[in-house]
Amino acid sequence: MSQANKKPKILVARAIFPDLLAKLEQVAEVQSNQADAIWSSAEIKAAMMDKDGAIVTGSEKVDADMLDASPNLKIVSNIAVGYNNLDMPAFKARQVMATNTPDVLTETTADFGFTLLMATARRVTESEHWLRAGHWKKFSICDTPLAMDIHHSTLGIMGMGRIGQAIARRALGFGMKVRYYNRSRLSTELEKECGATYVDRETLLKESDHIILVMPYTPENHHLFGEKELAMMKPTATLVNIARGGIVDELALAKALKEKRIFAAGIDVFEGEPAVRPELLELKNIVLAPHIASATEKTRRAMIELAIENCLAGIAGKTPPNLLS
Ligand code: DGY
Repeated sequence: MSQANKKPKILVARAIFPDLLAKLEQVAEVQSNQADAIWSSAEIKAAMMDKDGAIVTGSEKVDADMLDASPNLKIVSNIAVGYNNLDMPAFKARQVMATNTPDVLTETTADFGFTLLMATARRVTESEHWLRAGHWKKFSICDTPLAMDIHHSTLGIMGMGRIGQAIARRALGFGMKVRYYNRSRLSTELEKECGATYVDRETLLKESDHIILVMPYTPENHHLFGEKELAMMKPTATLVNIARGGIVDELALAKALKEKRIFAAGIDVFEGEPAVRPELLELKNIVLAPHIASATEKTRRAMIELAIENCLAGIAGKTPPNLLS
């Protein structure tokens, strides 16, 4: 805080629920962006400059230049579990805290991962478009969009953090065989609880009927899922991405879907979002969603509340509940 007994200055870089903003304004001097405008880096930098703390979403990149220009800044609090938008080495070097919002979104995000998986394998949106286009003339055993089964199939989860584990628990209810790949292996107890078997990446790619990506996005896994990986998948398999767009090479995916080298894909996150590649938009065997895995009102409120709690704790010189650096 710049001066004793003064309210801290906080930037809220995107629109939040008005009642939560009003509550924050009782204890802080807030600059907010209730118009929900997409600010350029220069605008974020200018808005952050005189602040003690900033609350941002995964869409706002915070880099070394912004931190250098903000001498009072103690903390940047992300309203997201993923924090690839924050330049973590720069935060560490400048001893500025960074936080995220884990846990509160786990179950909601896992629900959506499963929703997207089901919609993709069972061709839900494609069937609806088919119906709306007037193709449904009669009940037919064969002449109808035929799908892939979920129950008793093999699910491959890439990234076995909290959300991956919550997806695995759901899969058990469908009698699925759960395989996972992760940087580190789960404890035997957790593996048992999730009914999940650890396999190497290649085995997961080759043997899964459905693959879901839930790992964090890092420079190391940029385009991790490309032509080679898609070629290893079964032609009957589906791929679901609820992690980050940059993990998948979207052009390679579009090509594989077009050539029916995999059955279908469900995508909630895009490399250039909110822009979506025309190559993906043209396809029928893909379910597209606008980054909504955590988007229930209850969960989004909980994420904002946690981000505020993290921010205020950091400014007050306490250790925020979800400190990253
Ligand atoms: C997250 O929490 O990381 C979601 O993707 C929303 O940004």
